[in-house]
Amino acid sequence: MSETTSARETWGTRLGLVLAMAGNAIGLGNFLRFPVQATQNGGGAFMIPYFCALIFLAVPLMWCEWAMGRLGGSKGHGTTPGIFTLLWKHPLAKYIGVLGILFPLGVVFYYNYVEAWTLAYSFFSLTGAYFGIADVGSMKQFLNTFQGIGSPWHVSPMGYIFFLITFGLNIWVLSGGISKGIERLANIGMPILFIFAVLLVIRVFTLGTPDPAVPENNIWNGLGFIWNPDFSQLTNSKVWLAAAGQIFFTTSVGFGAIQCYASYLREKDDVVVTGLSTTMTNEFVEVILGGSLAIPIAFAFFGRAETLSIAQGGSFNLGFAAMPIIFQKLAFGKLLGTMWFLLLFIAGITSSVALMQPLITFLKDELGYTHKKALAATACLTFLMAHIAIFGLQAGALDELDFWSGTFGVALFALAETILFVWVLGPDNAWAEIEKGAQVPAPRIFYYIMKYVTPVYLLFLFVSWTVQQGPDVLAMKGVAPADQAWRWAARLALLGVFLGLCWLVSKSKRLKELTEAP
Ligand code: TRP
Repeated sequence: MSETTSARETWGTRLGLVLAMAGNAIGLGNFLRFPVQATQNGGGAFMIPYFCALIFLAVPLMWCEWAMGRLGGSKGHGTTPGIFTLLWKHPLAKYIGVLGILFPLGVVFYYNYVEAWTLAYSFFSLTGAYFGIADVGSMKQFLNTFQGIGSPWHVSPMGYIFFLITFGLNIWVLSGGISKGIERLANIGMPILFIFAVLLVIRVFTLGTPDPAVPENNIWNGLGFIWNPDFSQLTNSKVWLAAAGQIFFTTSVGFGAIQCYASYLREKDDVVVTGLSTTMTNEFVEVILGGSLAIPIAFAFFGRAETLSIAQGGSFNLGFAAMPIIFQKLAFGKLLGTMWFLLLFIAGITSSVALMQPLITFLKDELGYTHKKALAATACLTFLMAHIAIFGLQAGALDELDFWSGTFGVALFALAETILFVWVLGPDNAWAEIEKGAQVPAPRIFYYIMKYVTPVYLLFLFVSWTVQQGPDVLAMKGVAPADQAWRWAARLALLGVFLGLCWLVSKSKRLKELTEAP
């Protein structure tokens, strides 16, 4: 038997692990996606379903994923094909586990490109490239030109150059491995991220009412919009689905990527306190810091109605069009703009490496690749596929990747992993696995939540997403015929990667040994 545990890497320090896991979760989702989702779904109406999803989905799933990952890692299997097979000795388990590599890839195919925009915009802020553009409409135009929208090439030279730089930086970090690459990045990047975010929040809070002639346009109305609960919307299923979607995206649960990081824990490491603290750090950064930036500042400068319409207009308008207008009106605007976009970039890169690591880990653990070879294969695949998001941006390839991996995918995957970990392994065994090495026992109520509430909640989400959005998305309703080709390319890419991974899984001797072992 090749149960090699000694050769496996581990996280260097506990703080490094916490920062790396927090970096995994804290990403563009916290600063770009959250404000837009909250605004589109009625602010205070959104927050109740949001916290329900946090308690009933994210927290129990996070504990399951950490425990599963640590269990797998202790046996030399850091990704879900191996982990699921350990839980369920059935030949099908490893193919279900393929999804836990596929969905992070589906996200990273577009994530790296958006991350590149943040790096480019911090450079544009520093040099003042967009200074002089006075209204949101023209700023959107600037963004579109940068994104290559409307150009015959579908990409701008600047956009592509920054993509290459961003991608190169990602691969460079990953080349260092777990403790010398990812952990080192987190040790440097996360403190900078916290400092930048706090400084920006202080700046926002001291703005008060920027234009005394329009007193209702102020920071406090922006905060009130998020924090005054709106019970009237609680019966709107769309808000519940959007809130659960945001919780999955921001905490990174339901993708298979947390298991991969957790597989580098030591067998006796605590998961209850450490896991909870990283999830709560993510929430602090999302709702306290993320929630105190884009929305309040946009309320103060544009007012409620315009802020809502900017957010309705597209996922990136608040961060990439509204904010650059505001920076021009502030003292030290170039500096503040650079800070905002650099903050986004740091948040982005600590997440994108987490999205690529599962494939690397899989190739090493299950196929015996060297680190170099696994990294090269992962780099080639993600580089190639990113071009679908780049060239197909205008056609909506990004939304296509996001829906199948990030919405439909996570609900399916989370359901599968809950059934395997809680029900197939057995609720008591699963709970014991979580409590192993725990510094403080997990609240017992979560045993019951995990056993009943989470799976039912997930089933409800999966069915609702499939029924409510599935047919329209599948039929590409409202998509111009010219745009359908790129959307098909995105789908076929996911399908192709899925089949390719299945083929690799079928070839793996280490996985075969697992089902044959008594
Ligand atoms: N949580 C990340 C963010 O907020 C995005 C993300 C989604 C992610 N799924 C993931 C990151 C899986 C790492 C692994 O931006």
